[in-house]
Amino acid sequence: MSCKGMSARIVAMFLAAAVIWMGIQLTSAQQVEESNPSVPFALAVGLELFQDNCASCHGEWGKGTDTGPPLMHGYYVRSHHGDVAFYRAIEFGSPQHHWAFGDMPPVEGLNRESAEQIVSFVRWLQAENWFE
Ligand code: HEC
Repeated sequence: MSCKGMSARIVAMFLAAAVIWMGIQLTSAQQVEESNPSVPFALAVGLELFQDNCASCHGEWGKGTDTGPPLMHGYYVRSHHGDVAFYRAIEFGSPQHHWAFGDMPPVEGLNRESAEQIVSFVRWLQAENWFE
């Protein structure tokens, strides 16, 4: 094969890889946008507690609203905001620092067990949306 033919092949391979990569990016964005996942039965209580206590600000599927940030976000993965950060946010609230939504107030009426169920649900949802 000529030198020219070879480099044309390399360019073609590169383009093919780029197209595949873009496809993956689009699929993951779409998943965050449209996910309406079937929640495992074991997380049903966490789902309900999340919907009742968090979704008004963080969105039904954790994608955020105009009063609170998405939890489906790189900031809130376990390595960045561990489970303890969630327990603290629930118990004490969280002053505005990452976003411009204002402060998160403490969430009343949740004991540690409820908080753990919420966090299990959120971690599962993050994994579903490729935030781990
Ligand atoms: C009244 C609105 C509101 C409700 C209800 C709410 N949050 Fe928040 N939450 C916020 C806002 C606003 C922030 C962002 C603060 C910032 O970083 O600017 C936030 C931040 C957080 C953070 C990050 C805390 C940190 O350390 O940075 C976690 C975790 C969190 N919320 C979890 C929850 C969970 C779980 C619930 C339900 C039990 C909940 N939130 C309910 C508004 C809310």
